[in-house]
Amino acid sequence: MPDEQDALISAARHARENAHAPFSNFRVGAALRAKSGRIYTGCNVENASYGLTLCAERVAIFKAISEGERGFDAIAVVADTVTLTPPCGACRQIIWEFCGDVPVILANLKGKIEQESSAKLLPRAFDSSFL
Ligand code: THU
Repeated sequence: MPDEQDALISAARHARENAHAPFSNFRVGAALRAKSGRIYTGCNVENASYGLTLCAERVAIFKAISEGERGFDAIAVVADTVTLTPPCGACRQIIWEFCGDVPVILANLKGKIEQESSAKLLPRAFDSSFL
């Protein structure tokens, strides 16, 4: 659905404007579509201790979960890079655990778009089915 994809990318792009990235200056936005139809956004939030930084993807997912949402259809990630920015390993785990196998849409500010499934981004994932 091109319109739905555009809306998600546009929401991620807007969220990116709120990025708190004074240490890396690397600004990222994410947008997550819940099965309810609502879109939740996130930006990266850095911290002087560096290690406490939260990526845009996890901010969006945790916002949605904390609002009571369960079940998601897709997530978009936007950064200002020529080679599109994929989620880090920690975010891949969180995307898998909360969203399952969903399209992960990567985009930049110039309109380049690529899509990959979360299953492909995190092969042989560990999750609660092993517990
Ligand atoms: N970052 C994200 O927010 N999402 C990604 O997909 C990659 C990395 C953030 C974390 C940190 O604030 C900055 O980008 C540089 O790593």
